[in-house]
Amino acid sequence: MAITTEGPRADAPLRRIRDLPGPRGLPLAGNALQIERERLHQQVEQWAREYGQIYRFRIASREFVVISDPGTVASVLRDRPDGFQRGARLNAAARSLGFNGLFTVNGDEWRRHRPMVLRSLDPAHIKAFYPTLVKVTQRFERRWRQAAEAGSAIDLQADLMRYTVDVTAGLAFGTDINTVESDEEVIQRHLDKLLPALAKRVLSPLPRWLTRRDPAVEAGLAAVHEAVDGFIAAARQRLADEPRLREHPRNFIEAMVAERDRPGSDLSDADVSGNMLTMLLAGEDTTANTLAWMIWLLHRHPAAAQRAAEEVRRVLGTGAHPTHEQLSQLDFVEACAHETMRLKPVAPLLIQEAVRDTVVDGVAVPAGTPVMCLMRPGAVSAAHFDDPQAFRPERWLAGDGQGPAAGSAKRVAMPFGAGPRTCPGRYLALSEMKMVAAMLLRNFDIADVSSEGGGDVQERLAFTMSPVGLRLRLRART
Ligand code: HEM
Repeated sequence: MAITTEGPRADAPLRRIRDLPGPRGLPLAGNALQIERERLHQQVEQWAREYGQIYRFRIASREFVVISDPGTVASVLRDRPDGFQRGARLNAAARSLGFNGLFTVNGDEWRRHRPMVLRSLDPAHIKAFYPTLVKVTQRFERRWRQAAEAGSAIDLQADLMRYTVDVTAGLAFGTDINTVESDEEVIQRHLDKLLPALAKRVLSPLPRWLTRRDPAVEAGLAAVHEAVDGFIAAARQRLADEPRLREHPRNFIEAMVAERDRPGSDLSDADVSGNMLTMLLAGEDTTANTLAWMIWLLHRHPAAAQRAAEEVRRVLGTGAHPTHEQLSQLDFVEACAHETMRLKPVAPLLIQEAVRDTVVDGVAVPAGTPVMCLMRPGAVSAAHFDDPQAFRPERWLAGDGQGPAAGSAKRVAMPFGAGPRTCPGRYLALSEMKMVAAMLLRNFDIADVSSEGGGDVQERLAFTMSPVGLRLRLRART
């Protein structure tokens, strides 16, 4: 057995998974009946409080090892692609839904796709894309101004998803799909069904052939694939019209199509469309839900909202939207985003699978074992942060003296993951968050953010973790 030496002491005797504590389950189902899919993250976090930083639970025949110590989590995430990879179940579910792309592939396939994605999302590309980011934000401002003038409540997540889809499609596909101003846009109408369908397939205790087909998901998938095929055809046409783009693609889709059409390429059409969908899905929910949590938290913390608004007005002066340079001066707004992701990480758990027999925190973990990394417990632990449950953005400002220096805090809260598979969209995501926050705080006062039925805002996990049913009311500033 090939063993890596990670854990408390390299010479300590190894424990086995069956020696780990964990919740009692039923003979066949294991702990499946104790888990509500949409609250899985809260259940596994609760078990972490009861059973400690490494424990086990079982869904039918699949035994999970769950870890929550930030150091152990980081060492698992860094040990990729050779030691750990995304689970076979996720891979199969994504393939069955036709959106197998960078997020779900492993091994050599992942090594081939990753550089193309990285290049298309790097800061230089974001800078070149900046005028479009401003244009999409201006449209979004108009939409919210109309709602403010009409005194109507905004469906916060749905609106933010329009924004993030338009931005991702603009950057990755070079296509302006303008869901912000159109209620009939096909992507917008169907995309939101796909991630819940993926989560359901990954976590179902039943084998795939026993799960019922969902006609709404199938129809949504077909429609989205048709739209994506349209983007690919348009990109192929652009490459035919301007052959120099094959060597100098302007965006992700052109890079992928050029690579696919190169003689001898091992990319397939399915790889191209799977990656298109991956970009849309990975860029949409995550950023929109983080923004929704941020706006809700700012509403609940008026002093922080006030400080952020003052910073926006000071940095922008008379400008309507931040320039690319000004965006990097919005330190407190960025701190609000980091603090939001610490308390409300939209990816609260990452499931990795051991590629080979290995050791995690002194426990022998055989190849194929799913290891669930919990991202929130360390980030809200008093061991790492003062007053850990409080929303205090200033703790992220270097030299503020109110908490750990921003650098060490980032090693504990890892909302974008860690290691070689860390999120390639983080720079874009932070740019979008600062852009929307600046637009909001400069032009509006947040009159109210409430959940649909009133009462506390619930967390719902459907691949990403979102607030349930937030309604926003704005007052335009004069
Ligand atoms: C606030 C917004 C976002 C959050 C919190 C977030 C979070 C994450 C996390 C936790 C991972 C897994 C990292 C790991 O396994 O270590 C990930 C991967 C990924 N993200 Fe993001 N993400 C965000 C926005 C975006 C955007 C805007 C895009 C692109 C448009 C994007 C594209 C991807 C892709 C393609 C992967 C897979 C990377 C790989 O497996 O190599 N994400 N993201």
